[in-house]
Amino acid sequence: MLREMGLAPLWKLRTAPAEAPAQQALPEAAATIQDTGASSAVAGMDWEALHASIVACQACELCRARKQAVPGVGDLSPDWLFVGEGPGAEEDARGEPFVGQAGKLLDAMLAAIDLKRGNKVYIANTVKCRPPGNRTPTSTETAACWPYLERQIALLKPKLIVALGKPAAQTLLQTEVRVGEARGRLFDHGGIPLIVTYHPAYLLRTLPDKAKAWEDLCFARATMRKLLEK
Ligand code: URA
Repeated sequence: MLREMGLAPLWKLRTAPAEAPAQQALPEAAATIQDTGASSAVAGMDWEALHASIVACQACELCRARKQAVPGVGDLSPDWLFVGEGPGAEEDARGEPFVGQAGKLLDAMLAAIDLKRGNKVYIANTVKCRPPGNRTPTSTETAACWPYLERQIALLKPKLIVALGKPAAQTLLQTEVRVGEARGRLFDHGGIPLIVTYHPAYLLRTLPDKAKAWEDLCFARATMRKLLEK
């Protein structure tokens, strides 16, 4: 079963990239989305406008160090929406989410339940720009980026959302989450069922929890089957 998921214990994290140099403070004019009221503008955007807004975004400090913003990838009429944390170095360079080591594991996890990125699957992140040194995004950063994810969900209308790790789960559920306690439960995000599981990067570091991630994927697949029967 673990081999099927590509979870044989051969995965290793590459050496963590060096911290990005200290960032300049944002100019005062570059306030957060919430401050400027641009949040409601995002809420009315079509897909094209949303994409353009994300790639030009300066709503938080993360815009300073990014090579490019990473809006997301996949089927625009998906059954599944997987939400990660934020782009890493390879995603920042390529403009696509989950293309590094964690992405290879995510692809293997998808394949284990007969899914493929781009085929009824959309992959997005909680923050669209790389946190320097791959640190966890701050609550200010996730709040600044939330209108984008919220609009993506509204436009994509997935049947099921899978939150990969704590920042995604907390942002989507708007509450403190412990992944170990939240997994195995069916949550609701504005009428869309939501399941929480471990982030692939965490699984690369924590072999014993890979079997739990497999259980979570089986739960997600069973949930989707029920949703598709409706
Ligand atoms: N980790 C994430 O959460 N997202 C990515 O796109 C890559 C790694």
